[in-house]
Amino acid sequence: MTSTATTPGVATAPKQIPWQDEWTLNHSQMDETHHEFIAEINHMLAVPDDEMLAAVDQFIDHTVAHFEQERVWMENTNFPPKGCHIGEHDRVLAIVQQVRQMVAGGDYAIGRRLAEELVPWFNQHAQTMDAALAYVLIEGPDAEGAPKSHDGCAC
Ligand SMILES: [Fe+2]
Ligand SMILES: [Fe+2]
Repeated sequence: MTSTATTPGVATAPKQIPWQDEWTLNHSQMDETHHEFIAEINHMLAVPDDEMLAAVDQFIDHTVAHFEQERVWMENTNFPPKGCHIGEHDRVLAIVQQVRQMVAGGDYAIGRRLAEELVPWFNQHAQTMDAALAYVLIEGPDAEGAPKSHDGCAC
């Protein structure tokens, strides 16, 4: 009879998120930042409890810069769904800051839960809002087929 229970004292490898081809948007700087974003998530999934707060803070620093870079790109291209895209970034950062306070209070498991929950969010965000922004950055806002409305926005 087999058992799925872990053996006490035997460490299991931390869960790690592999890069998905559909996240590649063919804008080199955005893709590089998104690879780093996934690496930061994998770091949060891998660290022991006593390094979790530092990992969350590192993730926050990277994500603030990531979102600021996209905000500047949206400003420079007068990206139509700019407000919606920035609003989603702001909502994610607000949740991450709340979780950061819980981790600072000793709830390390929620740091790993945050990392896991960010993956489906990123999967959706990258293929909608970021994909539309990448298209405009590569092709120009007036290119044939450029997103004209709130592509990817739920608001
Ligand atoms: Fe992004
Ligand atoms: Fe974005």
